[in-house]
Amino acid sequence: MPAVATRYDYRAIAFCYDELAAIYSLGRIARSKRAFLSHVRPGESVLVAGAGRGDDALAAARAGAVVTAVDRSGTMLGSLRTVAAREELVLECVEAPVEASCEGRIFDHVVAHYFLNCFSDPEARAMLRVLSRRVGPGGRIHLADFAPSEGGRLARWVTGVYYGAIAIAGWALRLCALHAIPDLPGWLENAGFEVKSTKRFAVTPGAAPAYWSITGRKRVQGESAASTD
Ligand SMILES: C[S@@+](CC[C@H](N)C(=O)[O-])C[C@H]1O[C@@H](n2cnc3c(N)ncnc32)[C@H](O)[C@@H]1O
Repeated sequence: MPAVATRYDYRAIAFCYDELAAIYSLGRIARSKRAFLSHVRPGESVLVAGAGRGDDALAAARAGAVVTAVDRSGTMLGSLRTVAAREELVLECVEAPVEASCEGRIFDHVVAHYFLNCFSDPEARAMLRVLSRRVGPGGRIHLADFAPSEGGRLARWVTGVYYGAIAIAGWALRLCALHAIPDLPGWLENAGFEVKSTKRFAVTPGAAPAYWSITGRKRVQGESAASTD
């Protein structure tokens, strides 16, 4: 999928990306990105796709995981590299498109936080297939992203306004494609994963708007959707 790699450019926003996310999500984005850590054991391999400034990659490395962080933006990876060097963390940083990285390698965990939402639905599904190939049988994929509304009309309206404003701003800045919030659990099931957990992080006391963290387990060959546990 070569066309995707050149389209979304985070260089100009790298210096304030995490800080902006902390403001408009009231810290929920950072919390959603830490949820996967409870699934990771020391020594396990973790690929962080579209790692950005990589606070999640750094946290996994601190927890003893063997981490590979991939991002096409060297500017985004800059602070990750700086923190890793300062803390003397061993962590592989790959400055390249995910679709052209780590081919033939498989990982215990693949992490894609706020990454698939960069892409249009067909691009994101294609990217999910790329990521799926990097997960070993029985391994885990962890997604964090905007969550669709749960609840009634008011919750749907609040989610629509909140997500719409952020999505249009991101699209105008050429950070992402314009699209609705995807059904990520459904996509995972279709891509050969069993959804093991979904955790919501509501921004306000009501149900909406919210972010979520989803963990899927890759089915091993011959395993049917019903027989996995
Ligand atoms: C929305 S940011 C998310 C960053 C990080 N995962 C986080 O949660 O803070 C998306 C990141 O994906 C990177 N990116 C976009 N397309 C990419 C591609 N094809 N391959 C690798 N990285 C890509 C961008 O450079 C950016 O750092």
